[in-house]
Amino acid sequence: MAVPWYKDAVFYEVPVKAFYDADGDGIGDLKGLAEKLDYLQRLKIDCLWLLPFYPSPMRDSGYDISDFYNVSPSYGTLEDFDRLVRAAHERKIRIISDLVLNHTSDQNAWFESARKPGSSKRDWYVWSDTDQKYKGARVMFNDTEKSNWTWDPAAKAYYWHRFFSHQPDLNYDNPEVRAEMLKVARFWLDRGIDGFRLDAVPFLFEREGTSCENLPETHRFLKELRAMVDREYGDRLLLAEANQLPDDVRPYFGDGDECHMAFHFPLMPRIFMAIKKEERKPIVDVLRDTPPIPDSCQWGLFLRNHDELTLEMMPPDDCEYMLREYAREPRMRVNVGIRRRLAPLMDFNRAQIELLVSLIMSLRGSPVLYYGDEIGMGDNIYIGDRSGVRTPMQWSPDRNAGFSRADPESLYTQPIMNPVCSFQAINVESQERVASSLLHWMKRIIDVRRLHPTFGRGTMEFLDAANPRILAYLREDAERHILVIANLSRYAQPVEVQLGRFRGWTPVEMFGHARFPPIGEGTYSLSLAPFGFLWFRLER
Ligand code: GLC
Repeated sequence: MAVPWYKDAVFYEVPVKAFYDADGDGIGDLKGLAEKLDYLQRLKIDCLWLLPFYPSPMRDSGYDISDFYNVSPSYGTLEDFDRLVRAAHERKIRIISDLVLNHTSDQNAWFESARKPGSSKRDWYVWSDTDQKYKGARVMFNDTEKSNWTWDPAAKAYYWHRFFSHQPDLNYDNPEVRAEMLKVARFWLDRGIDGFRLDAVPFLFEREGTSCENLPETHRFLKELRAMVDREYGDRLLLAEANQLPDDVRPYFGDGDECHMAFHFPLMPRIFMAIKKEERKPIVDVLRDTPPIPDSCQWGLFLRNHDELTLEMMPPDDCEYMLREYAREPRMRVNVGIRRRLAPLMDFNRAQIELLVSLIMSLRGSPVLYYGDEIGMGDNIYIGDRSGVRTPMQWSPDRNAGFSRADPESLYTQPIMNPVCSFQAINVESQERVASSLLHWMKRIIDVRRLHPTFGRGTMEFLDAANPRILAYLREDAERHILVIANLSRYAQPVEVQLGRFRGWTPVEMFGHARFPPIGEGTYSLSLAPFGFLWFRLER
């Protein structure tokens, strides 16, 4: 059977708003994104993931959708969307978009109707006379919301919402709702979209006496969605956003009949923990605790995204540790997480950034990059919610970071201007000119990964290096054997690994092709620079 495309793909997450403003109104748009496809092609990414671009009051960056069947006028038109998809496909770039199944905006016509007495849409949402039901469900946006219920004076009832109170949850017990959301999916699939990131997917159903997460009913609906996609469209992708413990994420793959991919939420914070503690244990432990997934499925590996670096699923001690180490200032925190970008989290240390990126490029899964992290963009902790990691893409040192020709004060938000990481210092144009830039390094590592499908498809085996600061693993398929060795410490470290079954083979470094001494009897010894990593092709 052919290997599905998403197993080899490098993904790139982009908020349309933040990427490029073609019409000069201060807000990024679909036309602007289309104009920047050449850049993405040079970066050699395979699939774009677009954050919601649908009409929305934008109280949650568009995750509050008021019309599922259109494009927000600030981003363009349906025709712009079609043109973007065509232009991307011409460049062999696929596009997936966010599909927000769980909730709508309170300004969606469905909800506006549902609130009215006697409405036929009433049962499209979850209502109650009391706010005491489903007490087992946690409040996720606990900085803003105290309860998952909000009183609606027009409806004279409480409505259920797992996120902001302006985002009422749809009622999946209603077959009309399930049918409508399949229709929404078809609408975009018909326009050529290559799949969806399924937003907030664990929360579709509610049942008394449960956490209202990961319920069997939710999995049943997802299987129905998957069957429709397979039957009517074939080669498309469903990628689950399920921020859950390993054992609870695993069911989102079903028996290969639910989501094709799911983000590896449990791994993400442990990568940050491992580099701070300078030991491999957090990474090895979480991956050993991760159950195997069906052959056709794939993990989505990521470091940062448009949300806070979530700590929700960490035990309290680990959570405390992460906040202490990575979010000393209270304004770096939001909900149960850290609202900062990759480069500032790494104190702008280039070796550390490269090491973390090398891990999501070489561990088992497909990497998902967050726009701007390829140039080491900073964040703005002085603006609210998660907006500080959604600032304009820094294209050049010109006005508005080359993002927009609008007057600076009309931008949806200001580009980063502080002296450490201002757009004058960190931008695409400058980094394209300098061969040693982070951007060029990113292109290089993506290239090396693309040349070796073993990274996306192969098996993975941890090696027991005696030094706990060293993470070493083998990635293998029938033809190729890759050895990855990473130093999580800020000091140089010695490494000794057992490579018995490769006695007589030669490790060839994969970036420069240097041939290292052949593997002999006993352990194989190397030294690694601070935060250094080495990828070897083992040759017979
Ligand atoms: C997802 C999105 C997040 C949004 C939330 C509610 O978690 O990633 O940005 O706020 O869903 O829609």
